[in-house]
Amino acid sequence: MSAPADETLYGISCFGHDAGLAVVRGDQIVFAAHAERYSGIKNDAFLNEALIDDALRVAGPPERIVFHERPWRTRVRHAWSGQWRAAFSPSPITHIRSFRTFADVPLATVGHHEAHAAGGLFTAPFDEAAVVVVDGIGEWDTVSVWHAHNGRLKRIFAQHYPHSLGLFYAAFTQRCGLKPNEEESILMAMAALGRPTHRDAIELEFVRLARAPHFRLKRNLHRGLGAWRPDWTEPETIAASVQAIAEDVLLGLMAWVAQTVPSRNLVFSGGLALNCVVNEKLCRSSLFERIWIMPNPGDAGNALGAALAFGKRRVHWTGPYLGHDLARRPALDGAIAALLERGVVGLAHGRAEYGPRALGNRSLLADPRDLQIKERVNQIKRREPFRPFAPVVVAELADEYFDLPQPSSPYMQWTARCRFPERFPGICHVDGSSRVQTVDASQNPSLHRLLQAFHARTGCPMLLNTSLNVKGKPFVNNRGDAQAFERETGIEVF
Ligand SMILES: [Fe+2]
Repeated sequence: MSAPADETLYGISCFGHDAGLAVVRGDQIVFAAHAERYSGIKNDAFLNEALIDDALRVAGPPERIVFHERPWRTRVRHAWSGQWRAAFSPSPITHIRSFRTFADVPLATVGHHEAHAAGGLFTAPFDEAAVVVVDGIGEWDTVSVWHAHNGRLKRIFAQHYPHSLGLFYAAFTQRCGLKPNEEESILMAMAALGRPTHRDAIELEFVRLARAPHFRLKRNLHRGLGAWRPDWTEPETIAASVQAIAEDVLLGLMAWVAQTVPSRNLVFSGGLALNCVVNEKLCRSSLFERIWIMPNPGDAGNALGAALAFGKRRVHWTGPYLGHDLARRPALDGAIAALLERGVVGLAHGRAEYGPRALGNRSLLADPRDLQIKERVNQIKRREPFRPFAPVVVAELADEYFDLPQPSSPYMQWTARCRFPERFPGICHVDGSSRVQTVDASQNPSLHRLLQAFHARTGCPMLLNTSLNVKGKPFVNNRGDAQAFERETGIEVF
């Protein structure tokens, strides 16, 4: 079954972590946002009235709802694995139906990995591709490989729970003192600080088989690791070891896919597609000619994936600015003046980013040349001092300053080497990598103009770019959030 061409489809992902809602009509993505940005609860797993009201304002009422998972299959898995409380808890469908707007609307479900695959494929700049989904778990699937041909997805391989690279990575995220299913990117950043000396020991204890495309674990890591190996006191060494294993498993899988699927195009989706260190290696591997990662490949992005899996049609991809509309352009003269005077400025304008990266519409920007800037911005955001910051650079000059693994990087999806790390200490991680965003005039005119103005005044064509929030809170979404951020941090937001 697929949707009539102009049907208003509300795609929903919720009940796991990081709920999302996306509205698709015909070939347009009309709206897409994260629940957390409206509730103020980071990684919020549940929908809320403010999010639904915003979608209704922009897109009108739903004609059909599409949920990103088949709940009964998930329930059977919960029962199989002895998660009795989850097996008998209310269904996500009951949660969706509890909102008046959704009470009587026809509702369809699609497979979780099918939604990830469709979300990648139908936003990609090509029709024919190998599609790889790797995440923690969706129903029973942990890895799936598809061949997309003539707009149809044919599944050619699946790995099932409890054998999951995503659960493995999440369990070690928890072991390193971080929040699983939320702070995996911090584990990845932490990995650069250590050496992978525990790699063999971890593999021996946890991995039964790692021969592509298979990855099997010796035990179920769904409940995490607790205080496993308390004698290992350096989380950086554990992080580096786990990242090294994940890289080998993923690159091995991709090599198998390149040999097996008759396509030189790759669509990569699922939460593991956010690992920009692996992604750089994938880009440099020459396994594929073109690689597309939808900028929100995790479960919040599966709201869009669900609608696209049901619609089975390509949509017109205009970029990730799909959420709440602040309906204002930034006062760039004020922003540049603040930046030159104080070195840090907030930018909140237009529609919010759909995805985990701030890409210029809800960003905190700073001068990357300042030796103290990392420390200062980490203090403003109350983040761990080791965490790196990303640069945003005018696309026309990106190649001059960075050795990029792809010609452009509009969504910060792979790391790159800065050619002059000593000149830009604010945006280089300890291993010399930077998670670059390139910006041209069509992609984000305001941000591009701001960068050009900064370049003209200082000779520096880039800024440090991080999300407009403080640790533990979601990004600034609406005007009130921006004002609260100004009050809390003393940083002006334009
Ligand atoms: Fe997922």
